[in-house]
Formats: sequence, C-alpha cells, structure tokens
Amino acid sequence: MSKQAAIGVFDSGLGGISVLHEIRRVLPYESLIYIADSAHVPYGEKTPEFIVQRSIAISQFLLEQPVKAIVVACNTATAAAVTQMRQRWPEVIIVGMEPAVKPAVQASKIGKIGVLATTGTLRSARFAALLERYANDVEVLTQPCPGLVELIEAGDLDGAQTSALLAGYVEPLLAAGCDTLILGCTHYPLIKPLLQSLVPASVQIIDTGAAVARRLHSELAKQDLLAAEQHPVDYFYGSGDVQKIQQTLGLLWPVPHPVAALEF
Ligand code: DGL
Repeated sequence: MSKQAAIGVFDSGLGGISVLHEIRRVLPYESLIYIADSAHVPYGEKTPEFIVQRSIAISQFLLEQPVKAIVVACNTATAAAVTQMRQRWPEVIIVGMEPAVKPAVQASKIGKIGVLATTGTLRSARFAALLERYANDVEVLTQPCPGLVELIEAGDLDGAQTSALLAGYVEPLLAAGCDTLILGCTHYPLIKPLLQSLVPASVQIIDTGAAVARRLHSELAKQDLLAAEQHPVDYFYGSGDVQKIQQTLGLLWPVPHPVAALEF
C-alpha cells in the first residue's frame, strides 16, 4: 500500500464532515475521499442489517480506489457494522467512533451526563457495553434526537426549526442537572454553536472527532503509512441528490468541491 494513497471516510450523510475537519487538522498532507450516503440518511432509524450492508458496500468501493485506511465517521454505523468490517478486512486500518463516555465521566464534576445520539446508537449492544465499562459510578441520561440529522443535512444549522427541536431534546437533560453533554452523533458538532447558545456556559460539551483523528494518525504511523509532505487532493461522493449534498457541503467545508454520484 502506498503512503500517498488516500484515506476513506464515510457517514450516512454529511455529519462525518465534522470528523473530516479534525483529520485535516491532525494530518494536513493526507488526501481524503469522503462518502455521504445521503440517499439512506438517517442511519439512526434503520436496522443494523441494513447499515451493515451499506457499510460493506461503501468500504468495498473505497478499497477499490484504493484507500490505505477507512474511517467510519458515524457512531451509528460503528455500532452496527465495525465488527463485521474488521472481520472481513482484518488487514485494513479501520477506525470507528463511539460516544465519548470515558472522557465525559472524567470531565463531569457532579457525575451526571447526558448523551445525545441516534436511536440506533443508544439501542446498540456496543453502547450498552460502553456504559457498563466506564459509567458505573455516574448517572447517564440518554436522549435520542429524531429529525435533527435531516435538518442538518438540509443545511439548517441555526434556523428556528433546528433550534426548537434541539432545545426540546436538551431541556430534559438540563432539567435533570447534567453538567456534561456528549455529542454521540457526528452531525451534532456541526450545530455546536447553536447548542452552546442553548445551554449554560458551565455545561461541558464533548465529542469524539479529535480523538478519532489522533487514533488514525497513530495507526498510520505504526504501519509507516503517513503521507509525505504534499498538496492533498480530496474527493467527495454522495448517494441521492448530489446537488443538495453539494449545497450543504458548501456550508461545511472551506474549499468548494464537486460531489460525484455514488452509483449504488
Ligand atoms: N452521523 C451519524 C452518527 O454519528 C448518523 C446519523 C444518522 O444518519 O442517523 O451516528
């Protein structure tokens, strides 16, 4: 595998762009191939079997490019599919992500944590295992957020509709006294400024993007696969309405990019 090969990153839609920013910050010379599976968003309301099938098909496509690593920039897809992906491609660097329970437990002063995530993530065995492992001595309140991902996909990052929906999801967590909130879905960091405007400044907001980028860096370094200094070339693909994807991407990524249609 060439060091100059790209890194493949995918999500159900554009949520993974929050992770892509962190990857670019930590690994500025790496070329990136991003896949938004927007025809099937939200993954959070799909069956694990469906998400496994999409994750395998997308990974297959990425490996054909080829890529030297795959980042599952989606908590829901990681919960449903990362085990099967690793079984199928044991030699490939596959970095997944899950809600930042451990850092939140360390950060919370009063031991009350709220987790905002998709229904799929919160229902998963992986999330249950995460709580079992790290959250025995704290109170964890979970809050699924149906509808939020669709609004973010449509580019409504701070409008009245997104604001009202988000406020309704956060309110019970604040009322219960949570001093730490976990963003357990990669779409949510894209509306962090809005969230910050809705919660007291004392509430800590934690997400996983930066940790994923650091992990990717260390996995690439271990296998001597870090790209040499170069001007990276990025590609974006999407399923579904690519024009709509491109419009929202324009709000989220600093450099304008065409979005190629994913034909499966
Ligand atoms: N961005 C995804 C996550 O991190 C999934 C959102 C969805 O499609 O439901 O969970």
